[in-house]
Amino acid sequence: MTVGPKILDVLLVAGARPNFMKVAPLCRALDAIPGVRTRLVHTGQHYDRNMSDTFFADLEIPDPWRNLGVGSGSHAAQTAEVMLRFEPLLDEDRPDVLVVVGDVNSTIACAMVAVKKGIPVAHVEAGLRSFDRTMPEEINRLLTDAISDVLLVTERSGMENLAREGVDPSRVFMTGNVMIDTLIRSREKARASDVTARLGVAPREFGVLTLHRPSNVDDPSKLGPLLDALTDVARECTLVFPVHPRTRQKMKDAGIDLAARGGFVLCEPLRYLDFLALMDRARVLLTDSGGVQEEACVLGVPCLTLRENTERPVTVEVGINRLVGSDPARVRAAALAAVRAPLSTPRPPELWDGRASERIARILLDRYGRGRAAESRS
Ligand code: UD1
Repeated sequence: MTVGPKILDVLLVAGARPNFMKVAPLCRALDAIPGVRTRLVHTGQHYDRNMSDTFFADLEIPDPWRNLGVGSGSHAAQTAEVMLRFEPLLDEDRPDVLVVVGDVNSTIACAMVAVKKGIPVAHVEAGLRSFDRTMPEEINRLLTDAISDVLLVTERSGMENLAREGVDPSRVFMTGNVMIDTLIRSREKARASDVTARLGVAPREFGVLTLHRPSNVDDPSKLGPLLDALTDVARECTLVFPVHPRTRQKMKDAGIDLAARGGFVLCEPLRYLDFLALMDRARVLLTDSGGVQEEACVLGVPCLTLRENTERPVTVEVGINRLVGSDPARVRAAALAAVRAPLSTPRPPELWDGRASERIARILLDRYGRGRAAESRS
């Protein structure tokens, strides 16, 4: 509830799974400031219970003010649908600032609508670049940064990228990583999870596999050999594989039945606390996700990224993450070496300390606050 005179009205957007862990600590940090009104819009880009609802419960995210219920579609259809459904909300109740996070279709869609209505946009996780324009997320990142007023950056590479692109430095802030705020806050709670017992694996005796990037899963001539290589790894070290809906569909279409091969423990996408517990107890993480690479650094679990590039180079620089690409022979060799190697130790990058959301809340208040906050500054 807003206490005292209203000094800042913030609208946040979350649409897809990786957004939920980012908005959770932002809502909390903003709500802790008297006079700040915080509302959350869920675009409904992800809508399955285990891709969305359980995250709200585990992360104690307040109920969204509105859910746009856009669902799936082509990139154009999904982005356009978010824009169409989001626009009337801004007319109904105009915020002082719109906060968007990450790089999903909902991020660019809402940013674009707000900017054209003269509402400033703050982009959390700005400046990351894979330099691979075949990735839909890279397009979303470039476009969102280009139109945002404030750019909130997780790592040095982001600062350098934005400087190279000529962004006015007074709009760019190195804040740390809000996803790590969530990890640090949730780690203790996740220790109570019985996920490993439920899945029948023992701590440090399994690897975790996640795979959903279109470049890895959409083309059966790539997905098949990649999963063949991972089957060789699974024979030596059990691989727990929570299967993303996109990947499940593609495996089905390609007639791939991993369950029949042995070595894999397949499950539905896991809720946040279970997935965190699983990563925390794993020997190695094999992934094409962005967030897992970051979480690995703080957990101290070696990570192999099954992509040719990463927009998060600090994870490689600190020595936790290795880019192994998706060539099957290379993945097989690197993964087998990793499961035989000793465990790592945590190596959190600069400012990944659990306080990023507080820093961001202060920046927003300083820049967009009205009334009391503005007076106290003068
Ligand atoms: C999206 C994001 C990606 C992020 C990923 C995390 C974009 C461009 N991509 O990719 O950056 O890393 O989320 O999960 O925004 N589906 C379901 N249930 C759901 C959600 C999706 O069955 O709750 C199915 C859809 O029908 C679709 C497929 O999964 O066929 C892909 O969903 P989509 O939102 O298009 O993109 P993701 O691949 O999940």
